Amino acid sequence: MSTDQIERPDALPVRVPLVQVETGLLKSWQMMRENVLSIIPEVATREKIVSGRTGKRWHMIMDPATIRHVLLDRLEDYPKSDVTKNLLRPAIGESLFIAEGAHWRWQRRTAAPAFSHRNVLGLAPVMTAAAERSASRIAQAGPRAVNLLDEMITTTFDVIAEVTFSGDGSFDREAVHRAIEAYIDEAGKISLLDVLGVPDWVPRPGRVMSLQAMSGMKEAADAAIEARARQGPGTLPDLLDLLLAGEDPKSGRRMDTGELRDNLLTFIVAGHETTALTLAWSLYLCAFDQGVQERAREEAQQVLPGRAATGEDVVRLPYLRQIVEEALRLYPPAGIVSRTAQKADVLCDTDVRPGDTVMIPIYALGRHRALWRDPDSFDPDRFEDRKAIDRYAYLPFGDGPRICIGASFALQEAVIILATLLSRFRFTPVRGRDPKPVMIITLRPQGGVWLQAEEL
Ligand code: HEM
Repeated sequence: MSTDQIERPDALPVRVPLVQVETGLLKSWQMMRENVLSIIPEVATREKIVSGRTGKRWHMIMDPATIRHVLLDRLEDYPKSDVTKNLLRPAIGESLFIAEGAHWRWQRRTAAPAFSHRNVLGLAPVMTAAAERSASRIAQAGPRAVNLLDEMITTTFDVIAEVTFSGDGSFDREAVHRAIEAYIDEAGKISLLDVLGVPDWVPRPGRVMSLQAMSGMKEAADAAIEARARQGPGTLPDLLDLLLAGEDPKSGRRMDTGELRDNLLTFIVAGHETTALTLAWSLYLCAFDQGVQERAREEAQQVLPGRAATGEDVVRLPYLRQIVEEALRLYPPAGIVSRTAQKADVLCDTDVRPGDTVMIPIYALGRHRALWRDPDSFDPDRFEDRKAIDRYAYLPFGDGPRICIGASFALQEAVIILATLLSRFRFTPVRGRDPKPVMIITLRPQGGVWLQAEEL
């Protein structure tokens, strides 16, 4: 089938139904219960700023220049919000993701070399092997529909576990995976209460249980780190080896076992589900638009005659990368990032007071009427010319000094896995089983992404 024979679909891919309120004052708690994304009012896709009060005063900003002001120019005045920190601290301590000021800066300087282009490329064989295993599992499932969300969660966990604690037989991957999933699940329920402005002393269900699972996991991680420190690096250095060897170029300080553990767990928590979601949504979109899928397959099959994709192939798969970028625009795994204002400020002619929550609704930004043509449609071609896209209008990885440290790792992984799968299977939707986008910390397709995978 050639690309121009295939009709583009008339319908749009699934969307989150945004709340229709014109005033920007949201009073109802009910609508937020089911779907945190529904706190994003529809006006956020048209205005530059929307403000409200639900327990706390908050502002959502959708103006690229103002977002730059918050994330880049005034970093110190807009630290990450307490909501984010309270939620994640029990799992990942004062790691890179949570820390502020000097404690954040030295950790970022120490970890940055591990994510250099050279080192990320060096980790690619792990991604290629995981893509190969995923293709075998999908092939084994035969003609039945497959839940590609679950499959991608397995695959990306495979990658992150291998690049953090590779070859450590003592490290129980399954137990770690279960503990993290349980925590994210519980934390998702907590976050609803926190976003709504419920005071800290209100007991949160499930916190105790997931903390127990977490502490077992931390002990296992500590033991693996200490064993590696004694044994020295393996032949293919992984992220643990790179962090063990890392030191702050300014102070010479190195991470101790607790700091190494918190950061490695951060990479697992921040890196695996987000990348799995990116892949699951990319596959959903390719099944939605067979024309795009066919074009992607032609590219993949040309570059990979009968083998899985490697790190070196990624630059030769530009259309695959555009699909991943477009999936991240339509379904950004981190749907909202939030900050707490430290000083009085004026954002888009609106007064901001110390203590106000300032949110960047990445989901609404990617679908903003003033920033994108046909914002709700799936069109990977819009990423052909990256220079034409305002940097602060497209923020799946955030921006400024706190931009995602794993962005190129994630993009490389997503392209390797997607190219390998599309070169071997044709994915088609299962009638009546469209995923429903729901935000529980991350933007997930509720019910999974069920697709028919026909082996080619
Ligand atoms: C598609 C996949 C991913 C997405 C969409 C994503 C998204 C993000 C976003 C939006 C932020 C900024 C949060 C904020 O400013 O409040 C962030 C930060 C971060 N991400 Fe990612 N991420 C992804 C993959 C990864 C991977 C693979 C890793 C590690 C292996 C990782 C590690 C981190 C860390 C450590 C931070 C905190 C950086 C700092 O504050 O200095 N992420 N990510």
